[in-house]
Amino acid sequence: MADLSSTFMGLHLANPIILGSSGLSTTKDGVARAIKAGVGAIVLKSLFEEQLRAELKQANLDTDAHPEAAAFIEGQGMTEGTSEYLAHIKAAKAAANAAGTKAPVIASINGTGDPFWLEFASMVEGAGADALELNLGIVPSNPDLSASEIEEGLINLVSKVAKTVKIPVCAKLGASYTNIGNVAKRMAKAGIKGLTLFNRFYRMDIDLDNMSLASGPTRSSPEAYHESLRWISLLEGRVGADICSSGGVYDGLAALRLVAAGASAVQLCSAVYTKGFGVISSTIQEMNSWMDEHGVAKLGDIRGRLARRNSDKPELYGRLHYVKALTGQG
Ligand SMILES: Cc1cc2nc3c(=O)[nH]c(=O)nc-3n(C[C@H](O)[C@H](O)[C@H](O)COP(=O)(O)O)c2cc1C
Repeated sequence: MADLSSTFMGLHLANPIILGSSGLSTTKDGVARAIKAGVGAIVLKSLFEEQLRAELKQANLDTDAHPEAAAFIEGQGMTEGTSEYLAHIKAAKAAANAAGTKAPVIASINGTGDPFWLEFASMVEGAGADALELNLGIVPSNPDLSASEIEEGLINLVSKVAKTVKIPVCAKLGASYTNIGNVAKRMAKAGIKGLTLFNRFYRMDIDLDNMSLASGPTRSSPEAYHESLRWISLLEGRVGADICSSGGVYDGLAALRLVAAGASAVQLCSAVYTKGFGVISSTIQEMNSWMDEHGVAKLGDIRGRLARRNSDKPELYGRLHYVKALTGQG
């Protein structure tokens, strides 16, 4: 059996597989099943700023178009409030300790206003969360705001949160930044210890028959991991924060590829929705088998082996690779 242990933001993980923030980690049962399946850590469902619900109501939007919010509201919604969320953290910690796995429990919050974030970050820490993931899921809808204004706002926000708590803070970002490495580096300077790449925003669609907005596919396909893989391989060791992948991991080989690219941990979400909690154990098993077959004793031996910073051909990570692929010289 290979040694799959990893360290993410200073947290010890028995293996790098993390259950991603979603309706799957909203309930005690979901947490228990993930622990039973051998998960390395769990990110709890995001607590959304109350305003989101008010906005949804006000705009009379179909919550199907907002699966993150919908799953939250259905499961452990605003109606139940923050105290239930804090109780959920305590219960998840107790479950992980009772199982002897000591899988870290990472809380997640999604908000915009300083008071909410700062106050809640402290409460989450007080409830025993091992770390905090900031779900920076913004869809910039105001054309009058420049990219730098938005980025400054986010960096300011993470800086305040990182100063407020002692537990490690991780920023979960979407992929749409002009220079994500620069945003990541500034966030690390502002105090975050980890990056989760990437958040998957709700997909919109249109119902032609009813001429109304509709929800696109809520789950990712296995193809999605390539986007994380590119950015992890480009940024590993160059921005001052550990990186965790999120998006499109359905099996152990994809997880190992992300580790080879430089990921310290790998989140699973859609795969668990699609295949059930057993995919956590089969992913870990598959990683183990591959490592045994290839004589890799510990995960650290392959972590970052294919990151740009360890390459003697860094040009392969940029445009050249693309040009070669297109011209058949790859
Ligand atoms: C139904 C559903 C609910 C989700 N809720 C949250 C959430 O509350 N907070 C969050 O940060 N990400 C949330 N996500 C995003 C996932 O954590 C993950 O980043 C994304 O789905 C990409 O990973 P995957 O391809 O493994 O699904 C949700 C995803 C789904 C499908």
